[in-house]
Amino acid sequence: MDIEEKKPAIIDLLTESAGAGDKSAKNEILEGLMEHQKRIPSKFFYDGKGSGLFEEITMLPEYYPTRCEKEILTYLWDKLELNAGDLRIIELGSGDCSKIRLLLTCIPEDQLRNVFYYPVDISAVAIRDAITDLQESFPKLEVKGIAADFTSQLHMLPKGGARMFCFFGSTIGNLDSDEINMFMTGLGREMAKGDQLLLGLDMVKDISVLENAYNDKRGVTAMFNKNILNVTNELLESDFDPEMFDHKAFYNQKKQRIEMHLQARRGMWISCNSNGTRIQLKKGETIHTENSHKFSPEQIEQLGEAGGLSVKAIYPDSKEWFGVVHFVK
Ligand code: SAH
Ligand code: AVI
Repeated sequence: MDIEEKKPAIIDLLTESAGAGDKSAKNEILEGLMEHQKRIPSKFFYDGKGSGLFEEITMLPEYYPTRCEKEILTYLWDKLELNAGDLRIIELGSGDCSKIRLLLTCIPEDQLRNVFYYPVDISAVAIRDAITDLQESFPKLEVKGIAADFTSQLHMLPKGGARMFCFFGSTIGNLDSDEINMFMTGLGREMAKGDQLLLGLDMVKDISVLENAYNDKRGVTAMFNKNILNVTNELLESDFDPEMFDHKAFYNQKKQRIEMHLQARRGMWISCNSNGTRIQLKKGETIHTENSHKFSPEQIEQLGEAGGLSVKAIYPDSKEWFGVVHFVK
């Protein structure tokens, strides 16, 4: 067979308009940098380098969420009591697809040929690399990658069939509280009666465990954080020097979230050649790059209510640090 023929297909929705209010990546970043508390949305972490650094983070001893969720996913499939025939799995923020592998491995081979898998990610590179490997491991599985933004393009995802949405990693926690609400409402609206959602949530726990997970000794999280300035430089043709910033990550108890910032080591002016803007940063000023909300058991039902979804079951890891919630519409 021709090599080209074996290449898994990717649909690129990122180049298409998501509808009203659609903003270019450049404008989204510029707007954030003009705010009083400067910010860059966390979805801009994930260029090729950022996706690779995130994969490194998942292997760090301090970064427990991946290990905890994988522990759950190794026992989950049998508990779900699903018929895999004609199942359409749509995974949002699929990254390296290593989590879905754990479920797919449990599906009997004769059923796997009727399963469709759609990894959805803002990083087309991450999808391409992941699905090439996935097709090698599961040649019978139908895979179609979708490069899309899950905050604005849910309505453009495949419809019909028995759909199971998966949103692992507690990536929902990277949205703001309002965005989480909007996301769940939007997803619920998209889901048909009987559709399922598996949602991975990182739970509130001891602050030192949380803060260590985002301040690893090797400094990989710091590199991941600073890389957002390289992505910004590409998009805005700007001249941020990532080495002139310190990585700061701390738990904001009131807001129940880890916050990541980049703190300027000295005062500076940044030039954005794409539109001639200049941005001033004072010594010690921060750019807020990520929120990672942590969840309490009481919040789980509320999350479903926003989308008209009911909780079928909650699956914890042995330490109860992480939960995968099975919602049904
Ligand atoms: N689910 C994987 C990866 C989590 S990292 C895991 O649990 O290990 C977060 C992933 O979401 C990255 O692959 C990133 O590219 C993707 N992502 C972040 N914001 C996104 C958005 N707005 N739309 C689509 N994908 C997004
Ligand atoms: C993808 N997301 C859920 C990760 C998190 O834990 O919030 C991203 C990350 N940021 C720093 N380390 C990992």
